[in-house]
Amino acid sequence: MKKVVFATKNKGKIKEIQAVLGDSYNVVAMEEAGIDAEIEETGSTFEENAAIKAEAIMKLCGEIVLADDSGLEIDYLNGEPGIYSARYMGHDTPYDIKNQNLIDRLDGVEDDKRTARFVCAAAAAVPGKKTIVVRGTMEGIIARKAEGKNGFGYDPIFYLPEYKMTSAQLSPEEKNRISHRGKALRELKKRLEESGD
Ligand code: IMP
Repeated sequence: MKKVVFATKNKGKIKEIQAVLGDSYNVVAMEEAGIDAEIEETGSTFEENAAIKAEAIMKLCGEIVLADDSGLEIDYLNGEPGIYSARYMGHDTPYDIKNQNLIDRLDGVEDDKRTARFVCAAAAAVPGKKTIVVRGTMEGIIARKAEGKNGFGYDPIFYLPEYKMTSAQLSPEEKNRISHRGKALRELKKRLEESGD
């Protein structure tokens, strides 16, 4: 089984990516590969940030490195919080406060104008090759009230009309099947296999 390093310190993400890539790749966290680096996300798109992280870590360890960058785009707020999703209102502000703030900013806005999407760009940096970058999205609308205990971050305010619930009310398996990250990682796996890596 081929080894790939995933450029994240987030254990939850390692589990998710192992579940998607598990049958063909052995996914190793950065620290297991002996790397402890903080890569600044200086790009202006999800794709740029994912590629910056994957390439920087690949240069440090010389192995295939995967990275992702994700966030929530709200159309009524011109795409905010977007690439700043983790940093919105400050990195350490609890998500119940961030989520309530977004609900308040959409006060009185009708459902058809509450459209939003989760976006995930996933990159694979392979030594000596051009970096592969793919994007996955999940469409929904911003709820009027936070609901659900699963997931993380903005999940409690992300309402999925087809499922009549928020993404924080989906089981982890269901979310993985339809989520931006699940879609991006499955596509990345396909692209890696096609290029023989
Ligand atoms: P990243 O770790 O730089 O990709 O940060 C992504 C940020 O976007 C997270 O900290 C969350 O705020 C938000 N986000 C991305 N994906 C999700 C999701 O599936 N559910 C809820 N929030 C998400």
